[in-house]
Amino acid sequence: MKVIVTKSKEMMSINAAHILASKIMEYPHLVLGLATGSTPLCTYHELIKMYNNGILDFSRVTTFNLDEYVGLDDSSPYSYRFYMQKEFFDYININQKKINIPYGIAEDLTEETKRYEKAIKKAGGIDVQLLGIGRNGHIGFNEPKSNFETLTHVVELDKQTIEDNARFFDSRQQVPRKAISMGIKTIMNSRKVILLASGENKAEAVKKMIYGKIDPNLQASVLQLHPDVTVILDKEAASQLKYTEENWII
Ligand code: GLP
Repeated sequence: MKVIVTKSKEMMSINAAHILASKIMEYPHLVLGLATGSTPLCTYHELIKMYNNGILDFSRVTTFNLDEYVGLDDSSPYSYRFYMQKEFFDYININQKKINIPYGIAEDLTEETKRYEKAIKKAGGIDVQLLGIGRNGHIGFNEPKSNFETLTHVVELDKQTIEDNARFFDSRQQVPRKAISMGIKTIMNSRKVILLASGENKAEAVKKMIYGKIDPNLQASVLQLHPDVTVILDKEAASQLKYTEENWII
């Protein structure tokens, strides 16, 4: 694991956007795995800025989002599809047909999870997967104790995840109890992983992910086994790590 500690959330986002931009410039047909939540927002905004400045072309990029809530359709302002359009896709020249997000209101959810995996395979696999991390160490919606061998599947959301994500809804009751998520195996199959974390409330999960034992109770710890992971943190999320500021803070 390569760990980059930055002095602010803004610098974390700029760093991540620069890595993604360099990959898109190198491989215009990049297959990009994307995350939602508050952490990657500014990264998306940085990428939009680069697009507006004529630096980036998304026309040949394919995207696969990590997850989607079950029961919310595309027009629901709480759906991840809505988030992605509003925060990123509506402002870049991505081909809408190359955007992939699990369909949360599919009639047959199991079929939908299989379809999603097949689509990833057909696209040639994910080149770069962007991740956030939950306070309980989840990645995507792979909650504590999930099997590391799972592909895209339907998950029951953890109590803490429901609490944490209630801030995006009008009330806790509105938070769906289930989601479709790429599995740990899907994430581990991607060629490169970039994980972002900011804020003190992520510090413990980050510490366990980096120094802890590989343990399904902290799903992100499995990333210790991935050959190409870059973790980009702000100094609050890195506050429980040992590092020398002169070398690590950008
Ligand atoms: C959600 C998403 C995750 C995300 C996590 C952290 O549960 N499914 O992909 O990483 O929340 O969210 P935030 O970035 O808002 O802290």
